[in-house]
Amino acid sequence: MAKVKVGILGATGMVGQRFVQLLANHPWFEITEVAASERSAGVSYREAMQGRWKLEGEIPQKVARLKVKQCTPDLDCRVVFSALDASVAGPIEEEFAREGYVVVSNARNHRMDPDVPLLIPEVNPEHIEIIPKQRERWSKGGFIVTNPNCSTIGLVMALAPLKEAFGLRRVVVTTLQALSGAGYPGVASLDILDNVIPFISGEEEKVETEPLKIMGELREGKFVPAPFSISASCTRVNVRDGHLESVSVELEKKASAEEVIRAWEDFNPLKDLELPSAPKRPIIYRPERDRPQPLKDRDAEGGMACVVGRLRPCKVLDYKFFLLSHNTIRGAAGAAVLNAEYLLKRGYITT
Ligand SMILES: NC(=O)c1ccc[n+]([C@@H]2O[C@H](COP(=O)([O-])OP(=O)(O)OC[C@H]3O[C@@H](n4cnc5c(N)ncnc54)[C@H](OP(=O)(O)O)[C@@H]3O)[C@@H](O)[C@H]2O)c1
Repeated sequence: MAKVKVGILGATGMVGQRFVQLLANHPWFEITEVAASERSAGVSYREAMQGRWKLEGEIPQKVARLKVKQCTPDLDCRVVFSALDASVAGPIEEEFAREGYVVVSNARNHRMDPDVPLLIPEVNPEHIEIIPKQRERWSKGGFIVTNPNCSTIGLVMALAPLKEAFGLRRVVVTTLQALSGAGYPGVASLDILDNVIPFISGEEEKVETEPLKIMGELREGKFVPAPFSISASCTRVNVRDGHLESVSVELEKKASAEEVIRAWEDFNPLKDLELPSAPKRPIIYRPERDRPQPLKDRDAEGGMACVVGRLRPCKVLDYKFFLLSHNTIRGAAGAAVLNAEYLLKRGYITT
């Protein structure tokens, strides 16, 4: 199979770098373009990234040589992965879709659009059936697919099997979110060293609304949100990568702890599709009394798993537990790459 040419919009940012890392040796996709703002454009990716490459290892050779371009829809590729800052992502992504590109985005701007899937292939694969509706907006075969906020995705992965098996009534979640989630340079060191910041702008609204779209139904061409409620409190903590979340749930049908753990461990809807980025175990339950931890668990399944632990009865709702997911992999670039793999497998992306 010839590889599909892909470009990365916002390739110089924290999430953009993850895209470069995850796509550099991808079996189905080949990076042919990297793009960012006019501040970075016009030089090689290696030059643009002087002092800015924050990931382990070197910049992949083939990508380092590419010239950084501006984010205009004249790039030599079929698919663009968007890691653009949300202040500019909306109209740029629309321009690409209008010109016929497949836009696989991390940014929040189009997540709640009524004709755009907010996709987690393990949870709501059928939502891609809304894509043909986007032809009313753009006629050249382009479309936009988004992945959820970095805190939403771990939460939804842990909740989806519980909703399926027992039904959900109410969810209360407190997040402890890593620094890389704020981009680079992100939070000033003097604000976060020796500290926790109990506010992340716009985050609680996203965590309270996105899961309901994802776990809702696509009925007669319309998304109908899932009928349960979520209360979220979001904090920034002094951790490099990996969002930890403390969750309490009320179930519709009573379940034993063993049944809850079994629902998580049996959850593997993509197992027969052989998608290169799909984790073999999407949800890993850790029985130890002090897991999951960002430092120890964020790289499980290449950063694509949701790790849960400390399941115990809740005296207010039914159960409480912790979950952890890697915010720039499963919560951003890895999620988008998996979305693109799923779209290709289903025939929505061709070479
Ligand atoms: N970090 C996470 O964990 C995470 C998780 C999920 C979703 N997201 C979302 O993913 C996106 C990227 O986040 P990030 O953390 O990677 O941010 P970041 O490190 O600040 O990177 C932002 C990127 O956007 C580019 N950009 C800024 N202004 C631009 C303009 N006017 N035209 C073209 N490009 C422009 C920047 O290019 P220059 O370098 O040239 O300025 C850079 O490549 C955001 O929408 C964010 O909300 C992030």
